[in-house]
Amino acid sequence: MIGDAGNDVHVTITGLGAYAPERVITNDELAQMVETSDDWIVERTGIRERRIAADSQALSDISLPAAQQALAQAGIDGKDVDLLIVATVTPDMMFPSTSAILADLLGAKDAAAYDLSAGCTSFMYAIAQAYGMVAAGLSRRALVVGGDVLSRILDWTDRSTVVLFGDGAGAVLLEPVEKGGFLGFELGADGAGGKELLFPGSGSRLFENGGSRFLTMNGREVFKFATRVMVTSAEAVLEVSGKTVADIDVYVPHQANVRIIDHAARKLGIPEEKVVVNVDRYGNTSSGSIPLALADAGSDGRLKPGKLVLMTGMGAGLTWGSALIEWTDEGNGAPA
Ligand code: ACO
Repeated sequence: MIGDAGNDVHVTITGLGAYAPERVITNDELAQMVETSDDWIVERTGIRERRIAADSQALSDISLPAAQQALAQAGIDGKDVDLLIVATVTPDMMFPSTSAILADLLGAKDAAAYDLSAGCTSFMYAIAQAYGMVAAGLSRRALVVGGDVLSRILDWTDRSTVVLFGDGAGAVLLEPVEKGGFLGFELGADGAGGKELLFPGSGSRLFENGGSRFLTMNGREVFKFATRVMVTSAEAVLEVSGKTVADIDVYVPHQANVRIIDHAARKLGIPEEKVVVNVDRYGNTSSGSIPLALADAGSDGRLKPGKLVLMTGMGAGLTWGSALIEWTDEGNGAPA
């Protein structure tokens, strides 16, 4: 699915928020749990530490502060939100949806609320949907939360996955605007590759022995897929939006592995200073990854009106997605 956002109605991000749990787990701490080392993890992934939710924290708990921050920055009260999408693969439970739980906590009474799942690309799919709802006039104020508590579905004895992931959430508020805002989207999926990254036993498909109860991944295959689609998806959204790589001011890639990010930036020709990287501090937070990185870019002053921001995600499905947005002066670009 691809298209430029060439409607008469422009839609932008007016509020941005992020939250990561307090508990930090360093690589050295992980090396006491599984056979690994700080050197191996840093060299192969760029990750130095990650945040892990407390036992008492579910997705809605870590999403709430991020959502509140986004609303505060936009100057919007929870009751004024008319659409709430939570992008995730680790909802509090299958139902009620985490978005309905969160809408209640925020006082977003009567807002349409649902969860959306597209692996680590969930946030990209969700902002495309929210954009469409606002552009069509169905929603005036759409809150999109991207977040995951992947620590709950990891096998903490499996060194090949446990070193990669962390917990976190980010949120954006989308509203109509006079000019600027989203310029285009590109989203896709390749179900044939789904077997490379899955959570067997988490749904209605019956598995022998009930499935693994854990995230299972073929790292090398996902790596190959990631390095390919991070480039092709970005090129596609640039082309459909009538922009080139030289126009990009800020590049916000999915934070899975610094080697994947470096490869994509190099292939696309985006210089290092335009690339947002925080995988060293958070690991791969799945649906939380891009909004957390966007919030970091806001905090360090990179999101200024007129700046062109490219976001590209990829993940289970296998899925991918890109969005291009011209930052506007609605909201101040930094978390409240
Ligand atoms: N510590 C030490 N050694 C390890 C570890 C570890 N944590 N994990 C694996 N190894 C070993 C392997 O056993 C292997 O040993 P061997 O050569 O004796 O067999 C060796 O290190 C090399 O393993 P590879 O798998 O070849 O290592 P690679 O360089 O491919 O890095 C990694 C592995 C980091 C997982 C990489 O493949 C990767 O990043 N893949 C992409 C993963 C990803 O992005 N997933 C998220 C998708 S988004 C979503 O939806 C969740």
